[in-house]
Amino acid sequence: MNISCHEAIKSRRSIRKFECRNISTEDLEHIIEAARLAPSGTNRQPWRFVLLISKEEKEKIAGAVVQPFVVAAPAVFVCCLDRRAYVRQLVEERMKELVQADVISVEAAGYIYQRKLPEQVEDVVIPASAYLDLGIAVENMALMATALGLGSCWVRLFNQQQVHEALGLSPEIEVVALLPIGYPMQSPSPRPRLSRDEIIIKLSN
Ligand SMILES: Cc1cc2nc3c(=O)[nH]c(=O)nc-3n(C[C@H](O)[C@H](O)[C@H](O)COP(=O)(O)O)c2cc1C
Repeated sequence: MNISCHEAIKSRRSIRKFECRNISTEDLEHIIEAARLAPSGTNRQPWRFVLLISKEEKEKIAGAVVQPFVVAAPAVFVCCLDRRAYVRQLVEERMKELVQADVISVEAAGYIYQRKLPEQVEDVVIPASAYLDLGIAVENMALMATALGLGSCWVRLFNQQQVHEALGLSPEIEVVALLPIGYPMQSPSPRPRLSRDEIIIKLSN
């Protein structure tokens, strides 16, 4: 399917009922690529994903989710953050790449170097910007799914710690959200939204 960005944004809905039809590997790769290309603060790219497809894998997280449609989906992305992206050494690597690519000046890079950055992953406190970065990546995935004729639903109503344990993830990884994906078996009307005037605080010219 080839639809415009505008159409994808307008037609995306949270889908909570899926067909029992497998998603092709090619489409799943398109969705992963949409996440990979997302922008992030200092290009740290802190997002990581676990893709659950088999019934056995999805069953592992069943006890942690509140809404059964999540594990009934043909594919579930477990969307995570990696604390290692915030360790000084890795931040510096990303900075060097950006300086080489002429994205930021040496002076701006120096300003960031001066900040107190954690040396050890154990000392990392995940910054708020990480959740922005992951949010962009996950929404890219949701929009790509729409463009491919698939449906998805952001899910935060689940026990993150339980999913972390059930999947045996390492301590550097923080589970944040789930994104079940599949062919939609419902076509919901647009959900209520605030009006344009309610969201614009001020327009200056
Ligand atoms: C960060 C986030 C968390 C959400 N968590 C859940 C959830 O746990 N369960 C659920 O059914 N929907 C969840 N949703 C979907 C919202 O309910 C949905 O986006 C909203 O009602 C608007 O509907 P629409 O996505 O169809 O436009 C979540 C959405 C976002 C962005």
